[in-house]
Amino acid sequence: MPPVVTIRSLKDHIGEEVAVQGWLYNKTEKGKLQFLQIRDGTGVCQCVVFKGNVTPDDFEIGQSLTQESSLMVAGIVRAEPRAPGVPGGFELDVRYIEAMGISDPYPISPKEHGVEFLMENRHLWIRSSRQWAALRVRAVIVRAIRDWLDSHGFVNIDTPIITPAAAEGTTTLFEIDYHGEPAYLAQTGQLYNEANIFAFGQVYCFGPTFRAEKSKTRRHLQEFWMVEPEVAFCTLEQLMEIEEHFVSYIVQRCLNDCGPELRVLERDLTHLQRVAPPFPRIHYDEAVAMINAAAARGDLVPGYDDPVPPIEWGGDFGSPHETYIAAQFDKPVFVHHYPTAIKAFYMEPEGDRPEVCRSVDLLAPEGYGEITGGSERMSDPGKLIAAIERHKLPIEPYEWYVDLRRYGSVVHSGFGLGVERTVAWVCGLDHVRETIAFPRMLNTMRP
Ligand code: 4AD
Ligand code: MG
Repeated sequence: MPPVVTIRSLKDHIGEEVAVQGWLYNKTEKGKLQFLQIRDGTGVCQCVVFKGNVTPDDFEIGQSLTQESSLMVAGIVRAEPRAPGVPGGFELDVRYIEAMGISDPYPISPKEHGVEFLMENRHLWIRSSRQWAALRVRAVIVRAIRDWLDSHGFVNIDTPIITPAAAEGTTTLFEIDYHGEPAYLAQTGQLYNEANIFAFGQVYCFGPTFRAEKSKTRRHLQEFWMVEPEVAFCTLEQLMEIEEHFVSYIVQRCLNDCGPELRVLERDLTHLQRVAPPFPRIHYDEAVAMINAAAARGDLVPGYDDPVPPIEWGGDFGSPHETYIAAQFDKPVFVHHYPTAIKAFYMEPEGDRPEVCRSVDLLAPEGYGEITGGSERMSDPGKLIAAIERHKLPIEPYEWYVDLRRYGSVVHSGFGLGVERTVAWVCGLDHVRETIAFPRMLNTMRP
């Protein structure tokens, strides 16, 4: 038997006889010819079975194969620019077919299915080409995140998932029973990151985070992955510089490494190609003024067909506001200095204007909304204790966190990037449920 190779590597085997192992994605027959579309996890390849090139038995096997049957085929690799497939451009001139697991009638056919049905069959849906492509892009994004941070002086120090206290508000906590004591699934690793920078300077944690979000939106999951870099001796302005380089690298890496996947997704790449530093920066005040001017003119929110809703100073942006703001720029845009009252307790208020804080969100173009949230952290112990009290949080579980301000406090900043929202943006998906293999959403945790 010739060597088994991946479909992705067929380009290196032109003219050679190789074997491919995979599943039958689709099949058409025309007299003495069978066209088997086989997928192997790395791509999809057209395998052409000509009756004269295989034994009668093998030809019959080809005829009997059902969608999603597993099989091995062997044949000669031909460059064929018109051959369908992913990445495409090659086909296999088949000499041998071996059926492995013949599939029962497969519930997902090329016809349209409702999302509910597909979500119930998520364990099968992930085999479909668009789902496959999005999850492969996700893997590249995760790799790009680690590569950039690892090569820019960040140390990966992971933080606990079981935590005794809230960090991002008390309304989205998942409570668990920790041997009789209440504990919570981590909403963020940030507080622990802040301890870690005093040992390592620049750190990141990267793992699943949990928010009991009560609303169903296309941007919220109950369980999502977040990478959180945190940097000692770093101001808000320096943080934005780190973020724009980091996010640009991730996007450019996808454009480089995910050509076939982005083609499967039919992603329009024009916005992504423009993602390079510097990103525009606007103050929250300016964003509010832009929104209210648009609302007064009756401007529509791009992609919504609804007018831009006005906003009162002090309010948080809804998704139409974020979409409108982002559409005014040709790159992701930073909105900084949000009102202190709507942000987390740990953010540093602006010195001469404490009603706003040294926070920054990065809004992605094309309606993908906030993909990072970050800030300069409070560095004075007294101010931090007052903020904890103002937020009606118990002081005891935060004592260690206040300690960080007692033993060599420094100005420091960090941010969190949501992996699923980044995948949705890069892939052009309109819902985060397709950006993770098994999404956890309000009232949905199966399979
Ligand atoms: O803005 P957030 O809540 O910030 C934090 O958690 C900070 N502690 C991060 C830090 O400074 N270290 O969340 C950060 C990002 C958001 O911008 C968004 O991309 C994503 O995490 N995110 C969610 N993604 C999916 N589903 C949810 N429910 C999300 N909540 C936040
Ligand atoms: Mg946020």
